[in-house]
Amino acid sequence: MTNKTPFSLEGKHILVTGASSGIGLSICRAIAASGGKVTGTARRSELLDNMVRELGRNRASFIEADLSLDAGIEKVTAAVPEINGLVYAAGISKLVPLKFIKRQQLEEIMNINYFSMVLLLAQLVRQKKIVKNTYSSIVLISSVAQQIGTKSSLLYTGSKGAMSAAGRVMANELSLQKIRVNTIEPGMVQTAMASEMEDILSKETVEQDKRQYPLGYGTPEDVANAAVFLLSDASKWMTGRSLTLDGGRYSLLD
Ligand SMILES: NC(=O)c1ccc[n+]([C@@H]2O[C@H](COP(=O)([O-])OP(=O)(O)OC[C@H]3O[C@@H](n4cnc5c(N)ncnc54)[C@H](OP(=O)(O)O)[C@@H]3O)[C@@H](O)[C@H]2O)c1
Repeated sequence: MTNKTPFSLEGKHILVTGASSGIGLSICRAIAASGGKVTGTARRSELLDNMVRELGRNRASFIEADLSLDAGIEKVTAAVPEINGLVYAAGISKLVPLKFIKRQQLEEIMNINYFSMVLLLAQLVRQKKIVKNTYSSIVLISSVAQQIGTKSSLLYTGSKGAMSAAGRVMANELSLQKIRVNTIEPGMVQTAMASEMEDILSKETVEQDKRQYPLGYGTPEDVANAAVFLLSDASKWMTGRSLTLDGGRYSLLD
């Protein structure tokens, strides 16, 4: 008798971008805990090395790369073995009011949050690195920001809107090979990115925002558990869709 449930990642090898910290790191841990193998990528190799030591070399490996560069995308595509899934968690955020936005800021954020996601996926598909016809799964970490219109978030919101929209198109094209593409759209999750926001906004604004979340701010583990579901065969009938994780922030109103 076997204990393998459809939620298990046993026998699956997953590539995770943004694996050095926050949500990406937590997803690496959750993949290993669910029986899968993980290759993590990011720029800070010492943090990636820590991740591999923690999870063990039989479960984890890393590729150091700057994904905002074509060379970084090529390096990852060449080095990664055949995969059953990808989580794109690399990303940056910046709050800038519309009237102060410059082309260089737009290019910087679109580059890592959107262009590199598309170009990495395109390369992986072209080089036949994603196993076909076995419900392989691509998970894009977008944001609930793309469903709303928070002031000063245009740079970030635009990049995540593009990511979520592109996810649906990719899901359609890749469905021919039974490769699935879904997005996760989290609200505020306590990571370095969230702390940066807290440094910019006043303490009162942050406290007020926290009170708007019926279940409080999320943790990286909350997102990682949803990612495991989407990577596993438990979700094999799901593609081109989005999971909103926001502790009830935008669905439960007084
Ligand atoms: N925290 C939240 O509230 C929240 C909410 C919704 C969505 N998200 C999304 O979740 C994802 C992860 O964010 P997080 O909160 O976990 O923040 P984080 O801890 O700052 O993680 C960002 C990750 O992206 C990687 N990265 C950034 N630029 C890169 C580049 N040029 N090349 C390769 N890797 C790069 C970073 O690695 P290196 O610096 O080592 O390269 C890091 O691992 C992001 O896409 C973010 O938009 C976060």
